[in-house]
Amino acid sequence: MTTQSAPGKVILFGEHAAVYGRPAIAVPVTQVQATATVQDQPRGSGCFISAPDVNHAFRLADAPDQDPLAAIVYETLTHLGAPEPDVTITLRSTIPIASGMGSGAAVSTAIARALAEHLGRPLDADTLSALVFEVERLHHGTPSGIDNTVITRSQPVFFVKDRLVETFAVKSPLHLIIGDTGIPSSTKDVVGDVRAAREERLEHYDSLFRQIGQITVMARGAIVAGELYALGALMDGNHWLLYQLGVSSPEIERLVQAARQADALGAKLSGAGRGGNVIALVQQDTQEAAAEAMRQAGAKNVIATIVS
Ligand code: PMV
Repeated sequence: MTTQSAPGKVILFGEHAAVYGRPAIAVPVTQVQATATVQDQPRGSGCFISAPDVNHAFRLADAPDQDPLAAIVYETLTHLGAPEPDVTITLRSTIPIASGMGSGAAVSTAIARALAEHLGRPLDADTLSALVFEVERLHHGTPSGIDNTVITRSQPVFFVKDRLVETFAVKSPLHLIIGDTGIPSSTKDVVGDVRAAREERLEHYDSLFRQIGQITVMARGAIVAGELYALGALMDGNHWLLYQLGVSSPEIERLVQAARQADALGAKLSGAGRGGNVIALVQQDTQEAAAEAMRQAGAKNVIATIVS
């Protein structure tokens, strides 16, 4: 029996602009995890996939068209040149779905990791990331690749599409509160809407993306230097640009305002927007107040995490 996990993630800076080649910063969230277990079955049983959390169970051979769990199994087997194994793959996940925490990429990562290891052929991070990216394309259409990159590496990344991944040191630990609006966010739809809006007002949108890129570069500097006040202000600035992109919502604004009023150093939406999560940078002693303020303002779920 082989078990492997992968963390969730949040984007700290640069979402949406990342689709257009600007940098983004994303960090793993280890408080939530996807876990895959691969267990041998008698010869001739074939591969069976079970995801009890979402009441989903099927034989690989009978998988629904474009099923993402089957897709990562096929990607992995094809990469390894291995035939369908006689195993059961069981998947569990505590990562909220459709909230911008990378649940899809984490599930794929856990499955590919566990299956490859079970077959005695563990995958390196780059290969794993490339396999997961192929499945991300099924969900998202034109993903930038940020989720598979940060989740397969499980460390903070400075990401630019189609470039080598850069990691960096975090000087002072970042205390983050992640508040879920409870509204599912379809990355594919929101990215599609932004694309359509950009076509109408190319210069305006490209200027917003450029400014987001500049903030992201400054944010990396602030993280490396441990300048948390500056980092919080940069989060607020990034949120304002996302608001102008049209990807905020009244529910998001309520959580952002609540966090700021509870002395968060900065707050912004994270991920595709319209729903999903708001992240707030807090100090250790104001952490609980910020979490409570976000709950009062309508957050359905609140996660505290430390990035170091
Ligand atoms: O909502 P998430 O975490 O899947 O993030 C989407 C981030 C975007 O920049 C909007 C899209 C992408 O593929 O980078």
